[in-house]
Amino acid sequence: MANLSTKLMGLDFRNPIVVASSGLTSSLERLKACEEAGAGAVVLKSIFEEQITAEVDGIVAAGETPYAHAEAADYIRNYGRENAVRRFIELISEAKKELSIPVIASIHCVSAGGWTDFAKRVEQAGADALELNIFVLPSDVERDGRYYEQVYFDVLAAVKQQVTIPVALKIGSRFSSIAHTANALAEGGADALVMFNRFSRFDFDIEEMEMVPASYLSEPSEMLIPLRWIALLSGEISCDFVATTGVHDGKSVVKMLLAGAAAVELCSVLYQHGVTRIGSVLEEISSWMDAHGFASIEEFRGKMSQEESMNPAGYERVQFMKTSEAQS
Ligand SMILES: Cc1cc2nc3c(=O)[nH]c(=O)nc-3n(C[C@H](O)[C@H](O)[C@H](O)COP(=O)(O)O)c2cc1C
Repeated sequence: MANLSTKLMGLDFRNPIVVASSGLTSSLERLKACEEAGAGAVVLKSIFEEQITAEVDGIVAAGETPYAHAEAADYIRNYGRENAVRRFIELISEAKKELSIPVIASIHCVSAGGWTDFAKRVEQAGADALELNIFVLPSDVERDGRYYEQVYFDVLAAVKQQVTIPVALKIGSRFSSIAHTANALAEGGADALVMFNRFSRFDFDIEEMEMVPASYLSEPSEMLIPLRWIALLSGEISCDFVATTGVHDGKSVVKMLLAGAAAVELCSVLYQHGVTRIGSVLEEISSWMDAHGFASIEEFRGKMSQEESMNPAGYERVQFMKTSEAQS
């Protein structure tokens, strides 16, 4: 097999495949299965800001949560119980003892308030890096985009004050100027941007007239959104890029690496086929590299990023014109 090693945020990975934060990484047994299946690194299932604050402050009052939905507020209040924090910290230290691949902890947060010194405990427990999944739904008609964006900067600054391990931000794609925001986050100290978070979606059951969750797994076509933005921004912005959402096979991993990603997180495909699918993904990458004469990832990483095109906006417009001409 070709040399698949890569570097992310200064950490050495034996290959670019990272098992994304999810139920697949929620216990020591599952983490060991990821390592055995060949993963280059793992991101632990997130602990939620509400779990941290609930344990610190006792029960969070419903009115204090940013969720208007009563059921959501109830769920969140109860989620904090059962020593979630202790179990999370124990999992980090056990994983560090038992695994030889990098262990990245993950915190899912919606504000910079009250919980950020917990990041220090994550570092002390031995995590190699921290991934912050920040998501604030911009649903308040009184608040503009700048208000919501500021949450990302505040969280990043507060956490960076607490830790020296690398910090990655897992972000969504819906900023009014994603390029500007991504650049500002890198300048604000983000060591990597994980693009893009896949938000849970809801659907309507029109018989029961109820809101129901839509599929929690991604489709392969969803990878085109992170592919575009990683290709446009890598090389332009001084931080590493990690691809996530819609990557289901080795060919898609190769595309993300060509776009400039340093690593790729997999989740849905591993839920569908089991973590042993990592083996065939690695084989696909390796045979593509052999077929194209690449001995290492560094030889081709970023080869298809925007640096190949001096005017990315113009490039996009021409593609659109060509498509609409072909279809008319
Ligand atoms: C069942 C499930 C649980 C997840 N839990 C988390 C989580 O705790 N924290 C997080 O940052 N992302 C979580 N995710 C999102 C994944 O890490 C990943 O970013 C997303 O599924 C997109 O990647 P994919 O297309 O490979 O599935 C979860 C996804 C699934 C399907």
